[in-house]
Amino acid sequence: MSGDSDSETEWPKDETKFYGDAKEYWSEIPSTVDGMLGGFEKISPTDINGSKAFLRPFLKIGKGNTNTHRALDCGAGIGRITKRLLLPMFETVDMVELNKKFLDSAPSFIGQDSSRVGKYICSGLQDFTPEAGRYDLIWSQWVLGHLTEEHLVGFFSRCKTGLTPEGLIVVKENVSGSGETEFDDVDSSFTRSKEDYINAMIKAGLTIVKEERQKGFPKGLYSVFMFALK
Ligand SMILES: C[S@@+](CC[C@H](N)C(=O)[O-])C[C@H]1O[C@@H](n2cnc3c(N)ncnc32)[C@H](O)[C@@H]1O
Repeated sequence: MSGDSDSETEWPKDETKFYGDAKEYWSEIPSTVDGMLGGFEKISPTDINGSKAFLRPFLKIGKGNTNTHRALDCGAGIGRITKRLLLPMFETVDMVELNKKFLDSAPSFIGQDSSRVGKYICSGLQDFTPEAGRYDLIWSQWVLGHLTEEHLVGFFSRCKTGLTPEGLIVVKENVSGSGETEFDDVDSSFTRSKEDYINAMIKAGLTIVKEERQKGFPKGLYSVFMFALK
C-alpha cells in the first residue's frame, strides 16, 4: 500500500517471479496494522469509516437488500478489515490470505470476536475459488494489484459465483493518477488506472452499482476508489 514513487521500476518478466517476489516481500512484513498499511497505520480509522458509510446502505441493517450472514475478506492480512469493518456487521467472516504468518496472527489480533471467523484460507487469490453461493459480501482491499490482468478477470468472475442472490462484491484499491498501469518492484504489484479496473470488472460480467472515492487520506498517497459490484 505504498504511496506514489518516482523510482525507476522494471516491469515483471514472468508470472512466477511476479508472484514469488510478492510472496517474499510480504513474508518480511511484521504482523501489525502498520505492516498491513505500509507504515500508514494512522489512515486506518478514516479508511474503515469510509468503508462503513459506503457499505451500510446495501445491507439489510441499512435498509438495503443484502443479508449479513457471511462475508469474505480477500487478501485479509492479519484481519484489520475483518475485525474493524466486517465482524461488527456480519455474523461470520471467512478470511483468505496468501501469507500463513498473517493468518496465524489473526485470532490474537482480532481477539474474542475471532470465534466468529469461519474459515482461515491460506491461498493466493489467483488460485482461490469461493464456494458457490456462500457469501453475502466479498471484500477485496489493497490486494488486487498483486494479480495479473488475466487472473484479476478470472478472480472477479469466480467471486460472482460465490455470492448469495442479493450478494455484493466490494473492491477498494489504489488507482494511478496517470491513467496508466504502474508497476512497483518493491512489493511486486501493479497500480491500475480506474479505467483498467472497470474494464476488468466488465470483462468478468460484473455490473458496477456504486463507485466512490475515499476522502480524507493524506496528500501524496494514491487516490483510493471503492466499487460495489453485482
Ligand atoms: C496491503 S496488505 C492489505 C491487507 C488488508 N487487505 C488490509 O487492508 O488491511 C496486502 C495483503 O495482501 C496479501 N497478498 C499479497 N498477494 C496476495 C495474493 N496473490 N493473494 C492473496 N493475498 C495476497 C499480503 O500478504 C497482505 O496481507
